[in-house]
Formats: sequence, C-alpha cells, structure tokens
Amino acid sequence: MDASAWDERYSQSDLVWGVPPNAVLVEQATSLPRGCALDLACGEGRNALWLATRGWKVTGLDYSVVALDKAARVAAEAPRSVRERLDYRVADVTGADLGGEYNLVLMIYLHLAPTERLQVVNRAISALKPDGILMILGHDAVNPTQEVGGPQDPEIFYTPDDLVASVKGKLEVDVAERRYRETDAGTAIDALVVAHRPGLGSQENGA
Ligand SMILES: C[S@@+](CC[C@H](N)C(=O)[O-])C[C@H]1O[C@@H](n2cnc3c(N)ncnc32)[C@H](O)[C@@H]1O
Repeated sequence: MDASAWDERYSQSDLVWGVPPNAVLVEQATSLPRGCALDLACGEGRNALWLATRGWKVTGLDYSVVALDKAARVAAEAPRSVRERLDYRVADVTGADLGGEYNLVLMIYLHLAPTERLQVVNRAISALKPDGILMILGHDAVNPTQEVGGPQDPEIFYTPDDLVASVKGKLEVDVAERRYRETDAGTAIDALVVAHRPGLGSQENGA
C-alpha cells in the first residue's frame, strides 16, 4: 500500500488501531529508562503517545497525512507536558533522514519489500545511540496460511530469523521469537526481534 492507499484506509473509520499501545511494546519498554524514541510508521500514534506519557521524547514518522492528523488530534487531549514530548512528522521512512541519537527505535507492523526493509533496518540501526534498542514487530511469514488477516502480499512478511539476519553483526539480539495474538479471525502470529547496539567500550567496539 502506498501513502494514498493508507490515507484512504485511515479516512474510512475512526481510530483503526485504537488508543491503547501495542501490548508487546508495553511489555518490552515499561522497565526501560526514559530517553529519546523514534517510532517509524507511527500511524495514529498509539505507541508514540504511550511512550510520551511515560516521559519519553518521541519522534513519530509516517507518510499518511490522515494518520498523523488523527495522532495530533488524540495527542491534543493529553497534558501539555506530554504533547511537548511528541513530534509527529510526515515522512517516507524509506527515504527520510532519520537523524540519530535514539535510545529506542520502533518498527511496529511496518511491512515493506525485503530490500526496502533491509535499508530501513540499517538506517534505524544508524539512528541508535550506543546501548540503544531496536524493536521490530510484525506479521510473521506463517500468517498467510492461517487466514487471520493482515497484509496479503507474502513478500512483505518476515520471520524472527529474517529479522535476526538483518541485524546480524550490527546489533546484539536480546529477543527473537514468535508471538501469538488472539483476533476475531483466530490466532495471529507475529515475529518479534529486540536487539541493542553494543555500548561504548564493549568488546564489539574493540575494547
Ligand atoms: C499497520 S500500520 C501500523 C501503525 C503503527 N505502527 C501501529 O502499530 O499502530 C502501518 C503504517 O505504516 C505506514 N507506512 C507504510 N510504509 C511507510 C513508509 N514507507 N513511510 C512511512 N510510513 C509508512 C502506514 O502509513 C501505516 O500508518
């Protein structure tokens, strides 16, 4: 789907993904010290808003103007201190300058062709501070046989092993596994990888 197709989808209903944050993000990030986060393909901002509410400074990028309008509308209900920690920008993550110095980068249900995905993963890695964490979560490649919804183009699915291969030699992998999620249509399977950039002075940096 391109940006106009996403705009169309977001125009057809109120919040497509709801207000509560993704449960796996909550599980993985609740105990992290607050810092700066980058939410790639933030959609309507459910995850960015949750992080900002917990004291994170968050940049959310998405190429759907309609999604970001909704994200801004939801954020407008939050206290000023939370709003001030949120920065939503319209951007295509395959080409935008991601900047750097993030403690946490999220790619949650961002599905791209494999070559593009690898490019975005590499750029996400470059945007991490030492010890910064990359979390990738999305529809697993086994889903098309399960008929539980999600994207229909098999090329854009991935497995935990695919994700591990894309960060190998650059990040240390902390979690690589399948996650099971109940939906109205049945059990959906997600691929999850959480990995961190080796800290300054670690062996990986030659110390
Ligand atoms: C399934 S939604 C997930 C939204 C959000 N991460 C969440 O979990 O609520 C996928 C999002 O990816 C965005 N997206 C897809 N390709 C993109 C690209 N190349 N650049 C920026 N956003 C993109 C879409 O606009 C859409 O908002």
